Amino acid sequence: MHQRRFQLPQVYEPLIERTLKPLGYSLGDPLKLSQAVRRLSDFYLSHPEGKTPWKETWAQAASLAYYFPLNYARNRAVALEAHRLGFFAGLDQMIDFGCGMGSALHAFLDLAPVFQDVRGLDVAAEALDICRNLSSSDRTASHLDLKQIGHGNQKGLFDQDSTTRLFLASYVYTELDELPRGALESEAIAIIEPSTQADGRRLMQLRQELIDSGHQIWAPCTHMGACPLLTHSEKDWCHDRIHWDAPSWFSEMEKHLPMKNRTLTFSYLLARRTLPRPDALASLARLTGDTLIEKGKNRQSVCRGSEREFLAWFPQRMPKGSPAIELERGNLIELKGPLEQKASEVRLPNADAVIELSPNLQMTPKTAPR
Ligand SMILES: C[S@@+](CC[C@H](N)C(=O)[O-])C[C@H]1O[C@@H](n2cnc3c(N)ncnc32)[C@H](O)[C@@H]1O
Repeated sequence: MHQRRFQLPQVYEPLIERTLKPLGYSLGDPLKLSQAVRRLSDFYLSHPEGKTPWKETWAQAASLAYYFPLNYARNRAVALEAHRLGFFAGLDQMIDFGCGMGSALHAFLDLAPVFQDVRGLDVAAEALDICRNLSSSDRTASHLDLKQIGHGNQKGLFDQDSTTRLFLASYVYTELDELPRGALESEAIAIIEPSTQADGRRLMQLRQELIDSGHQIWAPCTHMGACPLLTHSEKDWCHDRIHWDAPSWFSEMEKHLPMKNRTLTFSYLLARRTLPRPDALASLARLTGDTLIEKGKNRQSVCRGSEREFLAWFPQRMPKGSPAIELERGNLIELKGPLEQKASEVRLPNADAVIELSPNLQMTPKTAPR
């Protein structure tokens, strides 16, 4: 089993502490921080459509100490998948739309320092100030342009060369009626969304619109057919799960909170306008569910085409000495056939029938645009 575990790099701890201080908070006072987190969490629960109250210092502190690290880890996972697929080839500009404190921008830059021109755009000046504070000069600040924009005003935002641009939007499509004009002209698109049913299914619909307009889908899908969760299910949605190794100050704060984050979920989509996906993807499948243990049988949702499918295996019936099959949601697998197919189930006779790829395994994209 290849577990994907993510941390917040140590470099952020002093930057977060430095930013918390003028707000009247400190990583050394986890109780006070947890009270701010509870207040913001309660606010989101009672105002599901509400915007973050950025003007409040408690909301800034909570976002910084709680939501920034968690979203950083989610975004880092997406950046890692993009990196190993070769998704960043030919790109040198990035727009993080609705960047907030910059969890996506920082995670992508830390993992793929290929971007020369990075713009973070947000309607909230307070969030941009925090994003600036989290950018240490030796890493990002030299080519980082953070800009406050108006809600509807997108004039001039997408004027630069779109052929080398990544449009990045993390946890913001959920707040928008539609993507900003110009976003879809970008050569590369990375969208990360909360793993709720509504947001996940909306992202699956966007995937189909991108395919219809000629885009190549690089992840999480290994195929370009219709999404089986969209066409064969009314309620399911594609989402990923990673493990979160919290820093000790985060765990101290979490001790005072009702919610515990051992794993983090999210939905995401990586698309390119012209660069074809790596050939290897077509012969792979993505694990789109956790292992479900039923009576004598294990099942796990898998995606490799427009049919809804599950891997199924019977641990008791495995040949003697065969290692247990342990597979992690979100990983890519290769199936070694021929395999028995029973309705929607692809039956695994033994552990050799499936190879789970390491999340670090590097793939080679085609270099020439279509
Ligand atoms: C939930 S936060 C996500 C922040 C950050 N991208 C992250 O992943 O942590 C959503 C952000 O989108 C911003 N936002 C909402 N509507 C926007 C718009 N029309 N244009 C630009 N930013 C917007 C909000 O101010 C907020 O900072």
